[in-house]
Amino acid sequence: MSTPHIACEPGDIAPLVIMPGDPKRAERIARTRLTDAKLVSDVRGIGAWTGHIDGTPVTAMASGMGVPSLSIYATELYRDFGVERICRVGTCGAIPRSVAVRDIIIASAAHTNSSVATINVPGVALSLAPSFDMLRAAVDAARGGERAVHVGPVFTNDFFYGGGPDTIGALSALGTLGVEMEAAGLYACALAAGKEALAVLTASDHLMDGSGDLTAEERETLFSGALEIAIAALLA
Ligand code: HPA
Repeated sequence: MSTPHIACEPGDIAPLVIMPGDPKRAERIARTRLTDAKLVSDVRGIGAWTGHIDGTPVTAMASGMGVPSLSIYATELYRDFGVERICRVGTCGAIPRSVAVRDIIIASAAHTNSSVATINVPGVALSLAPSFDMLRAAVDAARGGERAVHVGPVFTNDFFYGGGPDTIGALSALGTLGVEMEAAGLYACALAAGKEALAVLTASDHLMDGSGDLTAEERETLFSGALEIAIAALLA
């Protein structure tokens, strides 16, 4: 039974999904981190790769960019393919000076200007938060790692070019660690489906000083720290 955006049988997708934004990164995760990975769906170039990690079935599949794209895939995965946990691994822009480019942020909450927080219950802005069990497992896995790890709220922006300096300044004063474009959508989809989610982000640039000129190669190696934390959270 296929859905409009995922063309395979429910059994082809594992209950645990690792979800970068970029389809090429999903393929790289599949090739480097999954054993016996098979491409089970490839609608619109969003490949879903299913294999194993330490004997447990895991699917790597991209979200595309932004809440609308992620929401399509997360909703279909949770609702139609029996997925229980999705862990986003992505990048973000660092906001406070205490977070440096290359640091990892585990998103314990996601503020957003997307309607995803306010559309479900009229008059209420939902608190968009990850699975506590996944969050705890991620924080445990992060201890003793090479990279600095921060746990706190991020801002899921509906606009890459926009949102405005005032928005970021105000969110910074409220302890927001980074800005990206998908975590709140993922947490909202998990909430609606009664399933679990987490976002583990690597700071790829800094909003305050513009630092973060990473090479393509460095982006790849950088990413592995967040990936291992995400895998630990999924398998916990
Ligand atoms: N906004 C700003 N900077 C970023 C983002 C974003 O969504 N993602 C990675 N760096």
